[in-house]
Amino acid sequence: MRNARWKAASRAAIALTGAGALVAGMALFLTAPAAAGTTLGASAAEKGRYFGTAVAAYKLSDSAYTTILNREFNSVTPENEMKIDATEPQQGRFSYSAADQIVSHARSRGMSVRGHTLAWHSQQPPWMESMSGSALRQAMLNHVTQVATHFRGQVVAWDVVNEAFADGSSGGRRDSNLQRTGNDWIEAAFRAADAADPNAKLCYNDYNTDNWTHAKTQGVYNMVRDFKARGVPIDCVGFQSHFNNESPYVSNYRTTLSSFAALGVDVQITELDIQGASAATYRSVVEDCLAVARCNGITVWGIRDSDSWRASQTPLLFNSNGSKKPAYDAVLAALNNGTTPTDPPTDPPTDPPTDPPTTPPPGPGGCTATVSVNQWTGGFVATVKVTAGSSAINGWTVTIGLPSGATVTNAWNANRSGSSGTTNWTNVAYNGQVGAGQSTEYGFQANGTAGSLSPTCSAS
Ligand code: XIL
Repeated sequence: MRNARWKAASRAAIALTGAGALVAGMALFLTAPAAAGTTLGASAAEKGRYFGTAVAAYKLSDSAYTTILNREFNSVTPENEMKIDATEPQQGRFSYSAADQIVSHARSRGMSVRGHTLAWHSQQPPWMESMSGSALRQAMLNHVTQVATHFRGQVVAWDVVNEAFADGSSGGRRDSNLQRTGNDWIEAAFRAADAADPNAKLCYNDYNTDNWTHAKTQGVYNMVRDFKARGVPIDCVGFQSHFNNESPYVSNYRTTLSSFAALGVDVQITELDIQGASAATYRSVVEDCLAVARCNGITVWGIRDSDSWRASQTPLLFNSNGSKKPAYDAVLAALNNGTTPTDPPTDPPTDPPTDPPTTPPPGPGGCTATVSVNQWTGGFVATVKVTAGSSAINGWTVTIGLPSGATVTNAWNANRSGSSGTTNWTNVAYNGQVGAGQSTEYGFQANGTAGSLSPTCSAS
């Protein structure tokens, strides 16, 4: 972003060369700050951040809602649609339509998507709530793998684990069925998410972790420090920041954000709402984020007060009739006046290549495909591994003959033709190029019985 603005300014300066007396005055203009944005998303983008909101799929048919969403925000978090009860209502049967609807609404409008959430003690489907021990551990890891794989390339950051720490003075873990599978369940979830989607940012997310002096904040901090020291793949920490009379905003919030950032993770404000929506408090929260280089985005937990999970607290930026509240003006002003931090992020973004990448010629080495099946009574999930031969390939087609009675219901990371009998599968945009000897995976879910499947692969 900084780079793109710099290039635009350079082009303008070159265009002005030779314009005589105008040049001096325009040069002054060019060194002035960029024009203030007029929406939350545009103003946050000027500061190298995103401004997002929680979105409910069923509200996407409400035009008053989508008008504000599309105008103001450049990031979305599905409010409930990616939770475990929504995405795996029955064990091994995944349901993505509501989440996919939000993802497609967002991505077709250039908004990024935060995924929320892969592993959590709450909003578990009944089958998971009643599980324990190694069966639960395995089911949780399978859930993380399947869901992160389904959304690979579409979700920029995942709340891999949500709310695993206890409230109060212990600073320790919350008791839950997941915690009882062993203290390493959190890192196991992060490693599974990393394997399924190596490019997504992987976050730990929690509430009441805003006050730097609280035991819970320190407990999470110590876990993140330990993860970084041991190489557990964690990239970010989400602060829900539901502020209310019991859990108010405190001025050491900035210390909390900067202390976590100093561990080498991004920090994000993920579910912001403030009881009563004090303009001053909203402004402070935004200023605190802007003051921390690695605080790279803010998400409010809903658009209008009527959309809030705590509607009676009127905690959001828009009235129920869709009009802007004083808190909105305060947030926009804070985004526009905030300074761009001088301390660069630890991992600065790399410049995009100047020339589009050239397409390598197809390799002669072909490809092979293998399949592993997770069968239950009446259905199965197949994971297909495509491996390039002695040369890199530029695209692939896998053919799988399904036994009679088997019908595909859902697939990820491949295009499909045919849902029964002979099925053909081709790469999608991001997994066609596979290096010599390297592999990529796709999967599908089907009704019926898999039997033994014998995939064949051809490369292009
Ligand atoms: C809330 C949703 O807003 C409600 O619609 C739902 O009934 C319950 O969950 N912490 C979280 C969010 O991580 O997922 C919660 O969202 C709010 C608290």
